[in-house]
Amino acid sequence: MSAPQVHILPAAADAVPLLLDEIRRTIAGTRLPLLGFATGGTYTAMLVALGAELAAGRLDPKAFVATHLDEYLGFAPDRRGGMVHELCEACPPLRDMLSRGTFLPVPHDGSDDGLRAHAARLQRAGGVQLQFLGIGRNGHLAFNEPGTPFESGFHVTRLAETTREDARRRFAPEEPPHEAATSGIDTILQARRLVLCAFGANKAAAVRAMLQGPETTTCPASVLRRHAEVLVLLDRAAAAGLEAGAAAP
Ligand code: F6R
Repeated sequence: MSAPQVHILPAAADAVPLLLDEIRRTIAGTRLPLLGFATGGTYTAMLVALGAELAAGRLDPKAFVATHLDEYLGFAPDRRGGMVHELCEACPPLRDMLSRGTFLPVPHDGSDDGLRAHAARLQRAGGVQLQFLGIGRNGHLAFNEPGTPFESGFHVTRLAETTREDARRRFAPEEPPHEAATSGIDTILQARRLVLCAFGANKAAAVRAMLQGPETTTCPASVLRRHAEVLVLLDRAAAAGLEAGAAAP
């Protein structure tokens, strides 16, 4: 097993061309690869840039299949605040892919049958080749909050209070949801390649726990060290808590 590759970038914006290159390489290397997107502020700039590439024909929306990590319960694709809605707003070609059936959304009803069928659909699409990930300031991966067993598959979860707090602005004046359907940690580890981005000082403690703390469910992201192909892109503020020269113990 190799440690995650960690790159510290001058600024978050510098990640965008690297992330688009990841997509290009994956498309070039596999016929119709399944790409797993993450939602949240970390990836907005990349999604907007991807939308521009697709709209301009520099990338072909028919050359890949898309999916994502998680969805708030009860948030149908066209409901503001939901993850699919966010992805399609930032990257409109994903909306066409949704209508064509080449963007596979996490079912928002959270039923066992629905989640099982979704996991099976991802398998039939060849499994996720490239999974983008963010990290919560509490160390969550997707919505696998601290304490989630590493063996978990798709499941419904109760969101941590810090996660709800961070989502408050997106739902104001309504309250942020309490529950979401999420990809599990085991599901995430099955992707061929993982790329995690973390930007900003409020991620520094979680990044340190992920890369240099003990491997524990208290910091779900620490499990990434079990995966053989992980790239971590940080800006200087998110990397500020790392001990120099030691990306992993
Ligand atoms: C969302 C998701 C979350 C976010 C994380 C970081 O699909 O999977 O784990 O990646 O909460 O969110 P931002 O990017 O808003 O800081």
